[in-house]
Amino acid sequence: MHIRHSGGMANSIFVFRPTSGDIVELILADHRLFEDLLRECRRTDRDREASRKALAELLVAHAEAEESHVYPKLRRKRAIGSHEEEHGEEEHADITEALLEFLEAKGTDTQKYDDALEKLSTVVGHHAVEEELTILNPALTEVSGTVRAELGAAWATARNRLLDEGCASIPQVRAILERAVSEGTIAPADAREEAEEIKTKAKKKAEKVEEDAKKD
Ligand SMILES: [Fe+2]
Ligand SMILES: [Fe+2]
Repeated sequence: MHIRHSGGMANSIFVFRPTSGDIVELILADHRLFEDLLRECRRTDRDREASRKALAELLVAHAEAEESHVYPKLRRKRAIGSHEEEHGEEEHADITEALLEFLEAKGTDTQKYDDALEKLSTVVGHHAVEEELTILNPALTEVSGTVRAELGAAWATARNRLLDEGCASIPQVRAILERAVSEGTIAPADAREEAEEIKTKAKKKAEKVEEDAKKD
């Protein structure tokens, strides 16, 4: 596993920082690391607070570096279209939202912690699958190894800088989510709740119409 536990006063986990490589391999390695860290967060025999912090920093640094370097370049190279790029950003915003909820759970031994962790695991897993299928596969077939190596170095530099600076405190994650809402990447939470309610009502209405039609 590409993490290192260091004991002492402030327990922390050091996340491996590659500086070069094929962008697809680097991203896949991080996706595996997400799973490792999510699992560390689930275990009761681990320092959950340190694991949660390391996971948050890695999720933010990884996605921000993808959005600033990988997605735009793959689009310019016509490996992916605007739909893939925008959908990827939308899923990053979903992850940011779930991450904020996870970070805001007080303590690490509560139902709220478990629930938020389960939700975060789901959205991270979903995004990894989609990104691997619809963005990384085209990167493998549509761009050269040279470009993938250039992208690897650029992405790793941005990712590592964010990790070094610290990029996932609660205010930082909240600011990223607010930016996604103000840029229209995702709708505000209350608007989405409202839309969900309208959908449920419409579904119930349609079911009733169908039932009534059967009676006649
Ligand atoms: Fe990724
Ligand atoms: Fe991503």
